[in-house]
Amino acid sequence: MQDVARYPVTREYFGVKTKLVYMSKKPVIDIIGTGRMALALLTSLAHSGYHVSTVAGRNSSKLSKFKIQFNIEAVKLDSNFSTEADVVFLAVSDDAISDVAAILDSSDGNILAHTSGAQDVDVLQDAEEKGWKIASFHPLQTIPEDAEPEIFRDVYISLCGDTEACLVLSKIAKSIGAHPYDVSSAEKQKLHVAAVLTSNYMAALVKAAETLLDNPTIKTEQLLGPLMEKSLREILDKGPDKALTGPISRGDIKTIDKHLQIIKKTNQQGLYELYKTLGRYALQAAIDDKRLSQEKEKELEQFLK
Ligand SMILES: NC(=O)c1ccc[n+]([C@@H]2O[C@H](COP(=O)([O-])OP(=O)(O)OC[C@H]3O[C@@H](n4cnc5c(N)ncnc54)[C@H](OP(=O)(O)O)[C@@H]3O)[C@@H](O)[C@H]2O)c1
Repeated sequence: MQDVARYPVTREYFGVKTKLVYMSKKPVIDIIGTGRMALALLTSLAHSGYHVSTVAGRNSSKLSKFKIQFNIEAVKLDSNFSTEADVVFLAVSDDAISDVAAILDSSDGNILAHTSGAQDVDVLQDAEEKGWKIASFHPLQTIPEDAEPEIFRDVYISLCGDTEACLVLSKIAKSIGAHPYDVSSAEKQKLHVAAVLTSNYMAALVKAAETLLDNPTIKTEQLLGPLMEKSLREILDKGPDKALTGPISRGDIKTIDKHLQIIKKTNQQGLYELYKTLGRYALQAAIDDKRLSQEKEKELEQFLK
């Protein structure tokens, strides 16, 4: 039997009065959704000894897979769906969160958390009016279809919303090896833009770079992979200012000019602007690292305008 608690006992944790005893006992969890995040949560929560009672979704074949793989209740998500779990994770597409939350019955203070980085907690406001304690639980990690149980280890998980809900979610986050931290709503919105820039746009940059590659027999991952891996390692080890190499860090204006002429010949105005825009950020890194003379800085600033 799992170490679970469902008692309506009032306690005080870190100055917050709560009827929950989850700070010492593990809450019962339900997950709504059958996609990447739902599977990753289920896998890592089960691995960390949590009792995930039910998974609910609209896709029957995915539900069957969950049922077989984890030996849990896997039910259809419709107007008959009801949950008594202490914590419900709403791991559905961003645009579906409010509609799916609207299906839920009223609650006696149980916790409802969505996992979106882009959506505010307010998207669950209707559920809050029905008695749920609402929050967002956003792991700063890209989740593939076949996430391993340790997928959240060392990952920062931003928490925003009801204080009591965040306390309980913080404990869950720590149990799966993550680093929970509280964010304001405004901070969360900006954080998501930063996450998209450093993750999704890395893929977009590779896509842009591919438009300049001529040899179709060598895969991009093979050709540019070692360079990308080493660059990323250097950025993570030393920070962007120290890790920067290349023509801007050296102040090689003739090389930068040559690159711009090459891009111009491909008739990609967007890539031309992108090269210059990112060049200005590279210049800022070189300036912050005091690599260039003041004269060179001014010259490059003008050139990359
Ligand atoms: N994957 C990541 O890297 C990542 C990282 C951080 C946060 N998140 C967040 O996690 C949440 C889930 O993302 P995901 O990556 O798991 O997406 P996903 O793999 O595409 O899965 C989305 C899930 O939402 C369900 N869904 C969509 N519309 C629905 C509706 N109207 N009613 C009921 N269910 C609906 C889908 O059901 P069907 O299978 O039936 O279509 C599927 O189960 C999102 O809020 C996302 O922003 C994802």
